Amino acid sequence: MLEGKNVNLRIVEKEDFPLVTEWLNNLDFFGEYNPLMQMSRADLQKMRENFDPDEKWFFIEKKDCSKIGNIGHRPVGRAQEIGYAVLPSERRKGYCSEAVKIMVDYLFLSKDIARVQAHTDVRNEGSQKVLGKAGFKKEGVVRKGAFFWGEWRDGCLYSILREEWKEPKILTRAK
Ligand SMILES: CC(C)(COP(=O)(O)OP(=O)(O)OC[C@H]1O[C@@H](n2cnc3c(N)ncnc32)[C@H](O)[C@@H]1OP(=O)(O)O)[C@@H](O)C(=O)NCCC(=O)NCCS
Repeated sequence: MLEGKNVNLRIVEKEDFPLVTEWLNNLDFFGEYNPLMQMSRADLQKMRENFDPDEKWFFIEKKDCSKIGNIGHRPVGRAQEIGYAVLPSERRKGYCSEAVKIMVDYLFLSKDIARVQAHTDVRNEGSQKVLGKAGFKKEGVVRKGAFFWGEWRDGCLYSILREEWKEPKILTRAK
């Protein structure tokens, strides 16, 4: 488990698939800035089996152990890319910003990488604020980079370099 101040990140286990499937199939969870999809537990299992061994997903948990969202990382070339979502009822409380900071600390502390990156819809103001608060910089716009909800969408590519991160911000203890 990766410990932060208000949230912890706990790796998703196979036993958690029913909850993860429930969230994936809830259109409000990923919202209009992510792919529209529905998935059975078997689909999820198959998708996970085909993951790169270095792709990992974590629950964002509050200190009372309630699960309020997820955050994951996967290798893209020599970099790592992150993605995340928080349950609608727990948004705008600072939880995702903290989860991203924990994840960035973890990735730079555990992997010999030069950058962590994230893609987000140009209209996804909340996600871009989260990235800015965690020290990411906007690199540019990826025109028609994704097909979401019946239309091609422009996305923004954000990144933080190791030299910009400098040192751990939140992750002080892991167990
Ligand atoms: C984007 C998302 C993860 C943000 O999570 P969150 O826990 O609400 O984020 P935070 O509380 O850390 O918010 C960080 C800042 O963004 C602001 N913010 C959050 N959602 C916002 C929104 N929809 N519009 C404008 N600002 C928003 C917060 O007020 C906060 O600003 P502040 O520090 O000035 O007060 C959440 O809205 C979500 O799960 N959306 C659906 C899935 C998604 O889009 N994932 C990202 C894909 S790239």
